[in-house]
This record gives sequence, structure tokens and C-alpha cells, in this order.
Amino acid sequence: MNTPTFDASALRIAAVAAVRAPSMHNSQPWRLRLHDGGIEILSDTARQLAIADSTGWAVRIACGAATFNARMALAVAGTPAAVRWRPYPAEPEVLARLTPVQPRPATYAEQDLHAAIPRRTSNRKPFRPEPVPSGVRLALIEAAHAEGAWLDLLVGMTALSGFAEIAQSADRVLRRDPAYQAELAGWTRADAATDGVPATVGAPVAEPQDLLPQRAFTDRRRAPGRDFEPEPLVAVLGVAGDRLIDQLVAGQALQRVLLTVTGAGLACSMISQPIEVPAARDQLRISLRRAGTPQMTLRIGYGDPSRPTPRREVDDVLVRCGEPVATRR
Ligand SMILES: Cc1cc2nc3c(=O)[nH]c(=O)nc-3n(C[C@H](O)[C@H](O)[C@H](O)COP(=O)(O)O)c2cc1C
Repeated sequence: MNTPTFDASALRIAAVAAVRAPSMHNSQPWRLRLHDGGIEILSDTARQLAIADSTGWAVRIACGAATFNARMALAVAGTPAAVRWRPYPAEPEVLARLTPVQPRPATYAEQDLHAAIPRRTSNRKPFRPEPVPSGVRLALIEAAHAEGAWLDLLVGMTALSGFAEIAQSADRVLRRDPAYQAELAGWTRADAATDGVPATVGAPVAEPQDLLPQRAFTDRRRAPGRDFEPEPLVAVLGVAGDRLIDQLVAGQALQRVLLTVTGAGLACSMISQPIEVPAARDQLRISLRRAGTPQMTLRIGYGDPSRPTPRREVDDVLVRCGEPVATRR
């Protein structure tokens, strides 16, 4: 029997979904190629953030999330994929290789997750104060487990205040660095660019009463009385280790959690400052009494609809035979 292979139409299906993945500062550090009948997700090193992501952690989280989207799209198209991480030692930029497995109809879960891909956005605005129902909380924890990660929900004001202190101090450390600030400003867009973060989707300027830090993509002040929710639901996603593959696994799990959030009619923003500063990340791990490694923190709640952030054209992320992988920006 012939080994099943993916073709150019499957590559496009995978790429359309993959590019909707989140990435730090919307840098979109990925490319996709068809190789030996498999679809491969490659890191685009020209798009790695030199200051905020000197280790490549954020590239791997983003590419793990893109892999998850591609997997869902291929499953819904009738040919699910098996994933192999970093398949070629000689080509470390190939982070994932997806190969077809036995065709079958998509499960309801795959259909729901796939349907949520175009609707998922980062929502940095204040959420309404209603609590997230316990059934949804459980579904989020299960979404992380299904992809080999854990998700801890911070319960009670003591846990939340402890987290807020760690996150605010990490944010101060990062903001003290002029190079970090310049890089952030360089990825903040006033116009209709196809990458970077439009100022229109940034959180309003921080005010002293804010519990959590938000990345400063705008200098817009909030409307009077539009404070952030007093007791946000904060979740910490982590995995067993912190090797390159652990970070890719975390990216997949993150995306499954984000799509589950969207599917449940909720909104979410990511707060990665406490992951980016090693001392803060250690403190967070200790405060959770976890042996594994926190890989992302999330704020989840009921929000007003938020605008999608643009992406580059799908054709710009496909790698053709013999073409260099890194794109210019
Ligand atoms: C590794 C990683 C770190 C991120 N950190 C933050 C963050 O600290 N603050 C924030 O507002 N968004 C953060 N984001 C979200 C991105 O800014 C967002 O995904 C990107 O702008 C694309 O927008 P979208 O999520 O609405 O599609 C992060 C995303 C990733 C993958």
C-alpha cells in the first residue's frame, strides 16, 4: 500500500489556519513547506524578537500554536495529521512535521476548535465582572491536559494578589530596558500593516488601580469608569520541562485553551511578562508549588467583541523549493 501524503491543497488548508495563531507582538515567526509528502512548520529567524525573545521561547510557543491550528484544519478536511517535533537534527529551523494518518471524519471537538480559529483574538480591554462558570473552567483545564500541559486557575484574592505582584515587578524590569521599549514601539502600528500590533487593539494606558500589567501598544486613555474587572480569572499554563520541545508542546496546548475560551463565548489576553523574566518565572513556579515550568499566563473573562489583528498573506508564509526560509521584515 502507498504511504499517504499531503499535497499542495492540504498545505494551503494548513497554512490558512496556521497564520491565525497568536505570536508575540504579532511577529508571525513561522513559515510552512511541503516536503516529502509532509507539511512542515519552520521558524522564521528574521522575525524572532531580538530583545524580548532572545532565547526563541516565544517563536516556539507561536509555532506550536500554529501547528495546532494546522492540525485542526487538516482533521476537519478529513485527513488528520501526526506531529513529529524537530524531525531533522541538521535542520533545527524545522520545528514540526505533520504527516497524514488514516482518513476519518473530524470529531465534534475538532470541528468546534477549528470553527473558533478565525474568531479568536487577543482582547486587552476590561472584561465584565461576571465569573467564568465552573463547567468552562473545567473545559479549559481539560483542553490543556489533552495536549500534554497543565493549567492552574488562580482562585481567591490571595493567589491573585501574589500573581499580580510577580507580574507587575516583571513588567517593571522589562520596561526599564530602553531596547525593549524601542522594540515594542517598532512593532506597534498606526497603519494597516500586515504584522505588528495595531494601536487600536492595545489595552488602555495603565492606571495606578490596575491589578495586572498590560503591554503598552497604545497611549489611549480609558473612558471614565471603564476600569478592569476587580477579580479577573488568571490561568497559568505550563508543561513538565523547558526544553525546546516542551515549549512547542506548550504552544499547542495554549492554542487549544485559547480556542476553547473562544468557543465558550469568552475573551482572553496573554500576559507573558512573568514568563519572560527568569526570576519572576521561578517565583511563579514556586508560588504554584509546581515541579514543571510555567509557559504562559492568561486573563480570561467576558469581554465586548475585539477586532482581529491582521496577518501576512498566506502566500508569504509558504516556502517554495530552494527558497531561503528567513523572510525580510
Ligand atoms: C509567546 C507570546 C507572548 C505574548 N505576550 C503578550 C503579552 O504579554 N501581552 C499581550 O497583550 N499580548 C501578548 N501576546 C499576544 C500577541 O500580542 C497576539 O497574539 C498578536 O498581537 C496577534 O493578535 P491576536 O492574538 O489577536 O491574533 C503574546 C503572544 C504570544 C504567542
